[in-house]
Amino acid sequence: MTTFGIIGAGNMGRAIATRLGAAGHTVLIGDESPGKAGDLAAEVGAGVRGVVRATDVDTALDAEIVVLAVWYPGTVDIGNAHRQRLGGKIVIDIANPLDEAYTGLTLPSSTSAAEELAKALPDSRIVKAFNTVPAPVLTEGVLDDLPMDTFVAGDDTAARKTVLDLLDGTGLRGLDAGVLANSRLLERLTAFGIELGQRYGLGFEFGFKFVPTTF
Ligand SMILES: NC(=O)c1ccc[n+]([C@@H]2O[C@H](COP(=O)([O-])OP(=O)(O)OC[C@H]3O[C@@H](n4cnc5c(N)ncnc54)[C@H](OP(=O)(O)O)[C@@H]3O)[C@@H](O)[C@H]2O)c1
Repeated sequence: MTTFGIIGAGNMGRAIATRLGAAGHTVLIGDESPGKAGDLAAEVGAGVRGVVRATDVDTALDAEIVVLAVWYPGTVDIGNAHRQRLGGKIVIDIANPLDEAYTGLTLPSSTSAAEELAKALPDSRIVKAFNTVPAPVLTEGVLDDLPMDTFVAGDDTAARKTVLDLLDGTGLRGLDAGVLANSRLLERLTAFGIELGQRYGLGFEFGFKFVPTTF
C-alpha cells in the first residue's frame, strides 16, 4: 500500500481520499485550514479500509505520491514554492483551468495546467489524472452502475504505470492517456462535459466512459 499526500481538503480532496482510502491506501490530507483537513479526514476515514489522516501541508508534501487538489494557478504556486521537496516524486495534477462560465479554459490550446505545473517542477514526475470526473461522481466512483474512467497522462512512462496500477481497488478504471501534452485534451474534455451537463440539466452528475468496457 502506498502513502498519498493530498493538498487541499475541498471537493476533490474528499473524492480522491475516498477512492484511495477504499483501495486501502494511506492518505495524508493537508490544507491551508487545518480544521478543514481534520474534519475531512474524520469524515472519509470513518468509511474506508485505508488510513486517512489530517497533517500539516509540508508533511503531506513529503508523502510518496502527492496529489495537488487545488485550483490552477495555485498548483503552480505550490510547485514554485516546493520544487526541491517535490523533486523526483510523482505529483498528480487534477486541475482544470476553467473560465468563469466553467465551459471554457483560461489557458490557450498550446498548453495545459499540467504542463504549466511541469515547468514549475522540472525535477518531478507529473501525472495528470482524475480531472475529467466531477467530485460528486468521483466520491461514488460509479455512475449508472459503471465504474468511472480516469485518464492518466504523463511523460514518464513508469510514473504513469505506477499511477495506473495504484488505481486498482479504487473502483475506477484507469486508462493510459499517453503524454502529458494530452492534458490539453483532457482539460478541454472536462469543460465540454460541464457544457453538456448544463445543457441537459445534469449539473456535475456526469462522467466519461471509453468503450468497450473491457479489453
Ligand atoms: N470540483 C470538481 O468537480 C472537480 C473535478 C475535476 C477536477 N477538479 C479540479 O480539482 C481542483 C480542486 O477543486 P475543488 O473543487 O476540490 O476545490 P475546492 O473545493 O475549492 O478545494 C480546494 C481546497 O484547497 C485549499 N487550498 C488552496 N490552496 C492551498 C494551498 N496552497 N495549500 C493548501 N491548501 C490549499 C482550499 O482552501 P481555501 O478554500 O481556504 O482556499 C480548499 O480547501 C481544481 O484544480 C479543479 O479544477 C475539480
